[in-house]
Amino acid sequence: MAEATPGPGAMLRPRVIRTRTDLRAALATAPRPIGLVPTMGALHEGHASLIRRARAESATVVATIFVNPRQFNETADFERYPRDEASDLAIAGEAGVDIVFIPTVEEVYPAGFQTTVRVGALTEPLEGAARPGHLEGVTTVVAILLCLVGAERAYFGQKDAQQLLVVRRMALDLGIATEILACPIVREPDGLAMSSRNMRLTPEQRAAAPVLRASLLAARAAYEAGEKDGEALRAAIREVLAAEPLAVPEYVSCADPVTLRELARVEGPALLSLAVRFGSVRLIDNDPLP
Ligand code: PAF
Repeated sequence: MAEATPGPGAMLRPRVIRTRTDLRAALATAPRPIGLVPTMGALHEGHASLIRRARAESATVVATIFVNPRQFNETADFERYPRDEASDLAIAGEAGVDIVFIPTVEEVYPAGFQTTVRVGALTEPLEGAARPGHLEGVTTVVAILLCLVGAERAYFGQKDAQQLLVVRRMALDLGIATEILACPIVREPDGLAMSSRNMRLTPEQRAAAPVLRASLLAARAAYEAGEKDGEALRAAIREVLAAEPLAVPEYVSCADPVTLRELARVEGPALLSLAVRFGSVRLIDNDPLP
């Protein structure tokens, strides 16, 4: 992949590939290990941090950009999802991607497609309950991408904590050899977790959105002060959200970080998480307790 090996200060355009056939051909001779960063585009600093980690650990870095219709449970959300290929290629190139795979829907789901990858109980609560079909759409497309790329490692952000657990479970269950790696949430200076959806917030909603992080920090503070009751910790999150009129909570959770079952008492590690709507924009965030 000499074409895209970054030299000092160089800004290289990654090689763009749009078909399964061309991807296989390019990867047949690519230096290994391969690091994969699957994305839906609208790249931001959070994605760049995944790419930089992949760059540091791989001889070839592949990013995929595919707004996957199967994981949107609302058509309007799919249609409004931001798309900007030129900006994505610039960010991907700067962060060190060699190959960007940008397939069409027909390329990912060939004519007659009829396979669905569904993980069990882990997909039932939280995002699974709030967005029916969403996680099935994610596991189906991620399984396809992992099979097509055959990377040694694939990088996912911690912001989608349930997605990460579910993808790990799937890779383990199906014997997919790619190691699934988690990268920390990247935040704006005011604490808002970076997300492609942030750009759809109005200025008023954007100003209110750090309440997600603030509510998690309030629960963390209560936990550190000795509160171990799961419902009290969920209530601490809800109380902060309730003070922000633009924020409409969808769920608030204090769950076992392995099974994602809600906890009555926190006696070991726990995952605080939430989904909140600001008008038509839905944001998520989380905070693992030690
Ligand atoms: O996290 C995302 O951006 C998507 O869910 C993923 C993993 C790229 C699958 O479409």
